[in-house]
Amino acid sequence: MRLRTIVPMAVGILAVGLAGAGLRADPVEDKLVIDGEVELVTRAKAPEGHPFDEVVSGWHYRTDETRALQQDSFANPAMLYVERGAEIWKTVQGAAGKSCASCHGDAAESMKGVGAHYPKWNAAAGKPVNLELQVDACRKNNMQAEPYKFDHADQKALVTYIKHQSLGAPVAVDLTQGAMQSWWDKGKDLYYTRTGQLNLSCASCHEQNNGKYIRADHLSQGNVNGFPTYRLKDADVVSLHGRLRGCVRDTRATTPKAFSDDLIALEVYVTWRGTGLAVETPAVRH
Ligand code: HEC
Ligand code: HEC
Repeated sequence: MRLRTIVPMAVGILAVGLAGAGLRADPVEDKLVIDGEVELVTRAKAPEGHPFDEVVSGWHYRTDETRALQQDSFANPAMLYVERGAEIWKTVQGAAGKSCASCHGDAAESMKGVGAHYPKWNAAAGKPVNLELQVDACRKNNMQAEPYKFDHADQKALVTYIKHQSLGAPVAVDLTQGAMQSWWDKGKDLYYTRTGQLNLSCASCHEQNNGKYIRADHLSQGNVNGFPTYRLKDADVVSLHGRLRGCVRDTRATTPKAFSDDLIALEVYVTWRGTGLAVETPAVRH
């Protein structure tokens, strides 16, 4: 159902790209302060090897109304997911008769800052895992419960809740662990590879056309520090792999599966591109 709105948009982008007619505008100068109390870092000096000098949160590219929604946790519709996540956290599930809280106690303490460092190398899995996969591993191995189906509402709620415990913590992935660097390399390759009938890469939109308007869309750097994110267009919380799949679909390429090696590699690389930005989960985007 999202496809209908996306395909014409992508065609528009191609036309704009060819005509070079996209209106350009700087990201809005503003400060992101949650509930008038917590100021979040939305601009940071880019890490070495980054194509930009400064990494900028997607929040700066949104309208006054959308930015305001994120600043008010009573108005932010995704806070319902945070509440739902808190319920799931303490609910016993699976044959082992345990809840997340049975082992991890109060998430405000045990999960504080944790989400800012994912994806993380996992020696047992022999690959990086993101928060969704870590939660599934705990459900399977520690609770004897079924892993979630991708994008199950409870999966989004629990991950939003866990990530929210890192609100304001700077994004930092550790590339020195295990084979993280090779996953970063693979993610970078994918980021610059043109795909699909429209022959576009991530960089075509988020790097070369960053700051341009594509119809109502002000193209951001495509950072991931706000995920899971509330999207007004979908009137729902969108997971990171949901968003990445949507962006790939925009190029009319075959969409990689959620949690596939390709999307995990992209997640490693794209998360690194937003190094130093504060975790905004749950962000609000249009
Ligand atoms: C029986 C105890 C147990 C239960 C129940 C459990 N976990 Fe865990 N969890 C662990 C242990 C032990 C680790 C660390 C080792 C590992 O990665 O497995 C861990 C690690 C984690 C981490 C990674 C922390 C980090 O610093 O990177 C997250 C996130 C997590 N669990 C979330 C959950 C969630 C969400 C639930 C409920 C769905 C849950 N866990 C249920 C024992 C448990
Ligand atoms: C056809 C252009 C296009 C391509 C190609 C594209 N995107 Fe996007 N992407 C968008 C638009 C439009 C948005 C919504 C506005 C924005 O935040 O830039 C978006 C949003 C995003 C966001 C959310 C940003 C935020 O602040 O919430 C991420 C992350 C992202 N894209 C990553 C990617 C990755 C990774 C790729 C390559 C697999 C990619 N995109 C390819 C157009 C594109």
